[in-house]
Amino acid sequence: MRRPVIAGNWKMNMTASETRVLLGQLKASLAAAGDVEVIVCPPFTSLAEACSQLRGTAIAVGGQNMHWEEKGAFTGEVSAAMLKDLGCTCVILGHSERRILFGEDDAMVNKKVHAALAAGLTPILCIGETLEQREQGVTQAVCRRQLEGALAGLTAGAAARLIIAYEPVWAIGTGRTATPQDAQSVIGYVRAWLREAYGDTADTVRILYGGSVKASNIDGLMAQPDIDGALVGGASLDAGEFTRIVRFEVQDR
Ligand code: PGA
Repeated sequence: MRRPVIAGNWKMNMTASETRVLLGQLKASLAAAGDVEVIVCPPFTSLAEACSQLRGTAIAVGGQNMHWEEKGAFTGEVSAAMLKDLGCTCVILGHSERRILFGEDDAMVNKKVHAALAAGLTPILCIGETLEQREQGVTQAVCRRQLEGALAGLTAGAAARLIIAYEPVWAIGTGRTATPQDAQSVIGYVRAWLREAYGDTADTVRILYGGSVKASNIDGLMAQPDIDGALVGGASLDAGEFTRIVRFEVQDR
């Protein structure tokens, strides 16, 4: 049994004051979230506010990125230990915006995955193809390359602690969601790859879908056998919308 995860990726939104307001609403609306793991990932400057407000609640806090080194002369970066010390339990790694806009490659993501696990953070590893790659029919090959690169050197024991998010780049922030069947097809492939690499550990790794997830499409996605949750961008900034996404569980699985 895999516990569903709904994670909000706030991206570069929400000042610390705005964070206080949004989390006040979420704490009230998600007081009884049921058996869903809820995570919010605010920007770095709002993490302290989020961690202190959510301490003792069922809502966990994650970073959106980190550096792989422990400390040192890396202006503008933060380490896994810094996130952990604030109270974060997880961190988004290899998001397509990091890869495309900030030049992160699989080797860098691999170092971050190892560093996050070593610090006791759960990596939420993002993978996914661009529209061009989908049209060329290389979606599986792209996902395989990203998995092989990001997870190089990882043991099955460590892999069991991962969360993977399949986020087709063409569906992010575009309002264009993959159909539940398309998402299931790639996520089923990711699980098959995990089984080849790590055996039965594949059955315990949570794999999320991300890309224009909304209250109106979450139920169909969650009805798929291999989709264990969602990484939600835009819709996670609205307390009502995010709460309805977390509440998908009222639907039959
Ligand atoms: P979106 O973003 O829900 O706004 O499409 C998802 C993501 O980038 O994680």
